Amino acid sequence: RDPATPKQDLRGLRVVVSAGPTREYLDPVRFISNPSSGKMGFAVAEEARDRGAQVTLVTGPVNLPDPAGMSVVHIESALQLHDAVVDAAQAADVVVMTAAVADYRAAEAATEKQAKVAGDVTIHLTPNPDILAELGRDKGARVLVGFAMETHAGVERAAGKAQRKNADFILLNYPTREGTAFGGDDNQVTLVRADGTHEDWPRTSKREVARRLLDEALRVRAARPQ
Ligand code: CTP
Ligand code: CA
Repeated sequence: RDPATPKQDLRGLRVVVSAGPTREYLDPVRFISNPSSGKMGFAVAEEARDRGAQVTLVTGPVNLPDPAGMSVVHIESALQLHDAVVDAAQAADVVVMTAAVADYRAAEAATEKQAKVAGDVTIHLTPNPDILAELGRDKGARVLVGFAMETHAGVERAAGKAQRKNADFILLNYPTREGTAFGGDDNQVTLVRADGTHEDWPRTSKREVARRLLDEALRVRAARPQ
């Protein structure tokens, strides 16, 4: 085999990856969103594909071309992301939620563009479903992986999320490090398990983070009674 070809250790596995931001429309021309670039999720999807997995990538609006050799589903809102991920996850062995899901959407999105009014306005927001938590409630043999960006108490908060959502582990990162996280090509993450054990990984490319993430997912899978 070509030494440039990675080992095919995910052959026969189905991997679902969510990536990018969601858009929560207030009216036809305005939305609430966030600066997620999608790069981390695309790196996970491409790494999984190159290691032989059958990949479904569910992505919000990003400035990245669709990767070849996988099924790519485009969504905008958290509700659309929910439906696409839940559908793809049914047959999945590994689900990686890198998407930056908006926690809220407009309680009632206007169907017509809203004109400005004099003075303050109030927008009524309602919570979006927590997709990772929902997958965690009916987990089966799947390996569930989340991401979290925290400004403070990162390990503690990430471990709490892993526990509450029944995720196997969460990769924690910080919004403040130059060239990492939002939009950067590098990432510096801490692997956090539900039991609070954690490992700092070195700052490296998002592709290398993806490689380590999938290695860890395989370890979790191997340790689990099938
Ligand atoms: N997530 C999800 N559905 C949501 C919100 C988050 O599946 N509605 C996933 C994210 O994709 C990520 C993980 O949950 O993998 C953690 O996201 P985060 O926003 O850190 O968690 P929240 O529970 O929303 O907590 P917070 O109050 O810190 O935003
Ligand atoms: Ca959130």
